[in-house]
Amino acid sequence: MKALVLCGGSGTRLRPITHTMAKQLVPIANKPVLFYGLEAIKAAGVEDVGIVVGETAKEIIQAVGDGSKWGINVTYVQQDEPLGLAHAVMVAEPFLGDDDFVMYLGDNLIKEGITSLVEQFRQNRPNSQILLASVKEPERFGVAELASGKVVKLVEKPENPASDLALVGVYMFDGHIMEAVKAIKPSGRGELEITDAIQWLIDQGLVVDPHIIEGWWKDTGRLEDMLEANRIMLDTLEARNEGYVCSESNVVGMVVVEKGAEIVNSTVRGPAIIGEGTKIVNSFIGPFTSIYYGVEITGSEIEHSIILENSTVTDISGRIEDSLIGQNVIVERSPLKPAAYRLMLGDNSRIGIL
Ligand code: DAU
Repeated sequence: MKALVLCGGSGTRLRPITHTMAKQLVPIANKPVLFYGLEAIKAAGVEDVGIVVGETAKEIIQAVGDGSKWGINVTYVQQDEPLGLAHAVMVAEPFLGDDDFVMYLGDNLIKEGITSLVEQFRQNRPNSQILLASVKEPERFGVAELASGKVVKLVEKPENPASDLALVGVYMFDGHIMEAVKAIKPSGRGELEITDAIQWLIDQGLVVDPHIIEGWWKDTGRLEDMLEANRIMLDTLEARNEGYVCSESNVVGMVVVEKGAEIVNSTVRGPAIIGEGTKIVNSFIGPFTSIYYGVEITGSEIEHSIILENSTVTDISGRIEDSLIGQNVIVERSPLKPAAYRLMLGDNSRIGIL
C-alpha cells in the first residue's frame, strides 16, 4: 500500500499567512500540520509516500526532504495547477500505478491517527473506504448521504446538505479510482472533485465503505480551526524545559520550553509551548499559546494564539488573544508623534483594535 499526501492548492482562507508560506507548513503546537500526517502514515505501516506539490513545492521539499526523518520514502509529484483533488490523483498515476493507496490531505489533522482505518481497509478490501464525521457546517465540506449504512450519494459543498456527515480528508482506494478520476468532469468551481470520482465508483456498483469517526478531526484551513487544533494538540504534550527559566519567572501547568528559549521575569501559564531560541521578557503568556522559534516577546500579554518564527511583540498594552501572527512580523508601540496607529499590513490581513 502507498500513500498520497496532497500539498498543492492555494490556501486562500489563511491569507495573508499563505501569501508567503504553504498552509500545510503552518505549525500546530510548534509542528507543521503536515508532519502529523506523515507520522500517522508511518505509524500505519505505509512507507512509500507520494507528495503532490504545487506552487509551494520548494518549501515543502525543503521541510520534508527524502522523508528519512520519518522512516518513509518520499516521491514528489508536481501538479502545475490546483485543478482539484481528483486531478492530483490523475497526475500521480506514474507513482501510484494501480496500487492501493491512502490519500491524505496535507492540511487535515486526525488526533487518533489512521492506523486502525488502514487496517480495516486491508481486511475488508472494499474498492474505497471514506471517513465521515458529524460537523456543524456541512456545507463547507463534501457531504455524504447514507441509507442502511451504505453511501448512496456524495455532494461537494452542497447548498442544502442532506446530512451533517462531512468527508474527512483521508480516503482509501484501490486501482479503480484511476478510471474514475478520468471519467468525471470539472465541477462548478472548475475542479475535478474527488467527491465526484467516489460517486462515480458508487454509480458503477463498486464498493465504497463509509467509516464514521468519533474522534477529533480538523481541516485547518481557517484561523479559528488552526486555533482549535492548536488547543487540542497542546493538550497532548508533556511539560519539559530544555531552555532557561529565571528564578523570578513563574511557569505553571503544561509548558514546553524548547532548546535555547529564555523566560525572564515572566509568567507562562500552560498549556503552552515556547520555541527554540525564543525570548519571553517581562511578559505574560496565557493558556493555548504556541510561540515558534526565534521570537521575542517583551512587555506584552498573549493568550490563545499562534506566533510564527522570528517575529517580535514589544510593549503592547492590551492583551493579544485569538491571533495568528505570521513570520518576521513586528508588533510594537510607536514612539512617533502624533500618536497614531501605523500599520503595514499584507493583503487580506485582519486586525482587531480596542
Ligand atoms: O478537509 C476535508 C474536505 O477537503 C472534504 O470534505 C472535501 O470534500 C474536499 O473536497 C476537500 O475540500 P477543501 O475545499 O477543503 O479542499 P482544499 O482545496 O483545501 O484542498 C485540500 C488539500 O489538498 C490541501 O492540502 C491542498 C491540496 N490540494 C488541493 C487542490 C484543489 C492539492 O494538492 N491539489 C489541488 O488541486
